[in-house]
Amino acid sequence: MIGDKLRYTYRNDVGRVTNMNIGIDKLHFFTPHVYVDMEELAEARDVEPAKFTIGLGQTQQAVAPITQDPVSMAANAAWPILTDDDKEAIDFIIVGSESGVDQSKAMAVHVHQLLGINPFARAIEMKEACYAATVGLQTAVSHIARHPESKVLVIATDIARYGLNTSGESTQGAGAVAMLISKDPRVAVINDDAVSYTGDIYDFWRPNYSTYAQVDGKFSNEQYLSYLETVWTEYKKRTNKTLADFKALAFHLPYSKMGLKGLRQLLPEVDEAKQAALTEQFEASRVYNKRVGNIYTGSLYLSLISLLDQSQDLQAGDTIALYSYGSGAVGEFFSITLVEGFKDMLADESHQAMLDNRIQLSVADYELIFQEELPTDGSQLVLSEDEEQFQLAGVEDHKRLYK
Ligand code: CAA
Repeated sequence: MIGDKLRYTYRNDVGRVTNMNIGIDKLHFFTPHVYVDMEELAEARDVEPAKFTIGLGQTQQAVAPITQDPVSMAANAAWPILTDDDKEAIDFIIVGSESGVDQSKAMAVHVHQLLGINPFARAIEMKEACYAATVGLQTAVSHIARHPESKVLVIATDIARYGLNTSGESTQGAGAVAMLISKDPRVAVINDDAVSYTGDIYDFWRPNYSTYAQVDGKFSNEQYLSYLETVWTEYKKRTNKTLADFKALAFHLPYSKMGLKGLRQLLPEVDEAKQAALTEQFEASRVYNKRVGNIYTGSLYLSLISLLDQSQDLQAGDTIALYSYGSGAVGEFFSITLVEGFKDMLADESHQAMLDNRIQLSVADYELIFQEELPTDGSQLVLSEDEEQFQLAGVEDHKRLYK
């Protein structure tokens, strides 16, 4: 039985030792309904299209209209998977993001209200570049170990913006991933094996006064791979596992070729047959990311969803390794193990339909949408209705209004 070897041993506050499986019970993503084609963007920027489609591994890029901000995207990612019972049981909402809309108020408070979650709940926002949702997951596991009947909603939501005509423009994107964490999860158990590593570097950052990220592109690529090497080496030492123990790996994908570079760094450790098998799984893990672009905190989990939805040969009991990287920087390597019946919990058809039903923007229209801004002087702006369940409806007196 997989369950037996995965069960957490947790000593609660009265000293009783309990065993339980904790992990992902449901997961779902949202991306706005408009995108720009990467070949068209390349032509407009006088770049070989193959640089974007092969060199970076991106075919489409999601664009966030002004009506979709990180709050509305977070709510849009979560609502399709939540039942009334879930909303009652959730007593903790964690939103991981590096696109915060307020320096003080957590986006999770808006999301809590929009989703109609039990009022006796905690709501916080976490930040460490693209890593925050991972620490959100680990925090959720600890919370449930202490409060086994509760459920935690972890949402990663971001809009990746580098600016028009910048070298980072080709790695923008927008979207959110929602994960419901509980005991006896129906998708995957989160194993207690995480190895994290922190170092103070400037590879990618966004000062408070800037709407665009600052980035040292080449350095960020190098650090992503260097942190992978560090956490993987330590992980092997602590767990005695090898690459052969994993059925698949999911990587943080700022652009999908980055994960391929990470995978190629590890592959020489296994034989040719296993290399081919892991590469095939990697291809499944980047299908959605190629069409969405970078969604920062959610990118690793979008890749996990892509893997689960698109891979043909994953089975209960398979262990998947995850590499989380947040610039600045924190890296973490950990694993999850799929449980019996996980396929029944996937929203693969709705994910596919969401991507297929999007509208392609011309590069000129993308540029116009990209440059739209909310007033910053307290004046009122009423936005027109979009087609999503939740949207930003406007701003007034420096407050955001949602619908
Ligand atoms: N056909 C095929 N491939 C081509 C090509 C062509 N005609 N022309 C170029 N390429 C390839 C290049 O060889 C290169 O591939 P390799 O890296 O495998 O050598 C690839 O296309 C990209 O080319 P460049 O490095 O010249 O591209 P660039 O100067 O435009 O920079 C980038 C690319 C550094 C990713 C830049 O878009 C950027 O700064 N992005 C933001 C930062 C980022 O995403 N960093 C990732 C790690 S940090 C992180 O993960 C956190 C996060 O989310 C930001």
